[in-house]
Amino acid sequence: MRARWLAGASVLFACSAPLKLPELDQEAPYVDPMDLPATAGLPELLTLSTGERVETERDWLEARRPEIARTVEHYVYGTAPGAPPELRAVLLEEGPAEDGLAWREQIRLHLGEGVSMDVLIVSPVGVENAPCFLGLNFCGNHATTDDPRVLLSESWMPDSRGGEGGRANDAQRGMKAERWAYDQAIARGWAVATIYHGDIDPDTWTTEGGIRGPRAKSAPAVPGPNSWGTLRAWAWGLSRALDHLTLNPRIDGSRVVVHGHSRNGKTALVAGAYDERFAGVISNHSGCGGAALSRPARGETVERIVRVLGYWFTEDFWAFADREDHLPLDQHFLLALIAPRPLLVCSAIKDRWADPLGEYQAVEAAAPAWELLGAGEFGPEGFPETGQLIGTLPAYHVREGVHSVLPEDWTLWLDWADRLVR
Ligand code: GCU
Repeated sequence: MRARWLAGASVLFACSAPLKLPELDQEAPYVDPMDLPATAGLPELLTLSTGERVETERDWLEARRPEIARTVEHYVYGTAPGAPPELRAVLLEEGPAEDGLAWREQIRLHLGEGVSMDVLIVSPVGVENAPCFLGLNFCGNHATTDDPRVLLSESWMPDSRGGEGGRANDAQRGMKAERWAYDQAIARGWAVATIYHGDIDPDTWTTEGGIRGPRAKSAPAVPGPNSWGTLRAWAWGLSRALDHLTLNPRIDGSRVVVHGHSRNGKTALVAGAYDERFAGVISNHSGCGGAALSRPARGETVERIVRVLGYWFTEDFWAFADREDHLPLDQHFLLALIAPRPLLVCSAIKDRWADPLGEYQAVEAAAPAWELLGAGEFGPEGFPETGQLIGTLPAYHVREGVHSVLPEDWTLWLDWADRLVR
């Protein structure tokens, strides 16, 4: 990055890596999913594909981690291009928020391919370089707050999320405000940044208007095992937001926690796994294709998710429907890519669809990566009682109740982040 972000101006800044189409890394060990053997139990985290044991930090960083990163993208999420050569940031609007305790900025980032995303940033007044929570939202930035100055999203908005004829509208304002505790974050000196995920890539089988281009289920423009699914595209968008946050003087780009609920929680994990600049990761009720192991096939299964929501993934993942035991990985691989940085996986006990036990077991199975790196111990005593935060690095929490985001979840996240990221 060369140019500094200047409030009030449209700034063009150059990124280090050029935008290129995803392509298959020929070096990577790659086997057609239908030719992969079934494995008994979970694939080994600390054994190289050559069969050698991973003993040292160096073995992990130089050999096993890259191998895992490639395996997870080949078979689950697909690869993403680098940052675009230029990322233009335009300050659309700014002003006081949260009764004068915060400052609101609305910044349009032009991502290339005619696609842009609007980032809403609410930061504490009088704090330079605030740590920041960054996460995607489901229904538009305007739905995360009652603040009437927040701009309506201009991207396609499904009617099932309150859109009308595919467009955002005033009736959606604040409809998800209870899920976004701006007040708590600001009171504790944290900024909050959010983006409507549909700005980056539409949440549907057709990709018109999204960064993945005009790919439809029936006619993928970039066919093949490494084409990126929507989760990877959303994660890529979060990295572009981080590109901006690192230049924004109100935010400390080295203390950005990426978080998300459900599909956005899956995305937060992918973003944290593939972009080591994220200082911490929180996944809330992310379930299948997120923190939950695929093998137990409890709650949502690979078969169900690829049938209904297959565009979230690379097409190779579809081949594991009802064949989870052939996966050369499981979701603990994704989690381990985040080590040694702080990771918090949250479940709700009645959220059977997201399989709380499978989420716990994935954290437990990923924990040896943190231990190997000397970052912390999980020290599990088995699936915990509700309301107990267990482990330091990584950490796991299950609460009472159902699939949602509550103000008390934000309290837990902020406590955790104050301890481990601040
Ligand atoms: C569906 C989907 C889940 C997803 C959830 C959500 O239930 O099957 O995988 O996590 O939507 O994002 O709310």
